[in-house]
Amino acid sequence: MEPVSLPVGELLLRPWREDDVDAVQAAVRDPLLQRWNDLGSRTPEGLREKLARFRDWTAGDHCSWAVEEGGTLVGSVALHSIDRAQVEAELGYWTTAGARGRGVAVRAADAACRWAFAELGLDRVQLFHAVENAASGRVAEKAGFTLEGRLRRSHRYGDGVKHDELLWSRLSDDPPPALR
Ligand SMILES: CC(C)(COP(=O)(O)OP(=O)(O)OC[C@H]1O[C@@H](n2cnc3c(N)ncnc32)[C@H](O)[C@@H]1OP(=O)(O)O)[C@@H](O)C(=O)NCCC(=O)NCCS
Repeated sequence: MEPVSLPVGELLLRPWREDDVDAVQAAVRDPLLQRWNDLGSRTPEGLREKLARFRDWTAGDHCSWAVEEGGTLVGSVALHSIDRAQVEAELGYWTTAGARGRGVAVRAADAACRWAFAELGLDRVQLFHAVENAASGRVAEKAGFTLEGRLRRSHRYGDGVKHDELLWSRLSDDPPPALR
């Protein structure tokens, strides 16, 4: 697969660029991001390697976008663990601390799902978040996902603790969310 850009109103989901590294380094200083969406490394070298992987869609197992608003990086959304045989993928997202509470994550998540159903022919997109991460659950709900259940101590997050997680899914024929 070749990376594609998706315009979504004021937002642009676009392929990651090498020169995003400074903005990502600023974003990962946020404690919430470190806790719930640990990128693994916070050094410029580590983040550069990560961005290089995000830019390379050739393996076909992920589609990773930077989310931009007015030329500024405001977040990230990605379809990962794409399984063509099962026609499903997982969704992940984060937004920069200053961009929160304005619907960026919901609109980006919805756009990634719609594209996955229409262009990749996927039937199911699922997402997981720690039970304590209520904002992520609200994003899932507003982006048209249905809560399926609770997984016990299923993932170690950035705080080093294994948290129970909630599992949500959106199917290709679920009604799309009404977004403002
Ligand atoms: C979760 C996250 C992506 C939400 O991003 P966002 O751009 O603020 O999301 P949106 O504005 O689209 O929607 C957020 C919704 O959650 C709600 N919300 C925010 N904080 C909340 C909290 N602590 N408890 C409950 N709801 C909360 C908001 O009110 C909003 O709902 P509303 O529109 O009905 O008022 C962002 O907080 C983040 O990056 N967190 C750190 C990383 C992370 O958790 N990533 C997800 C890992 S699964």
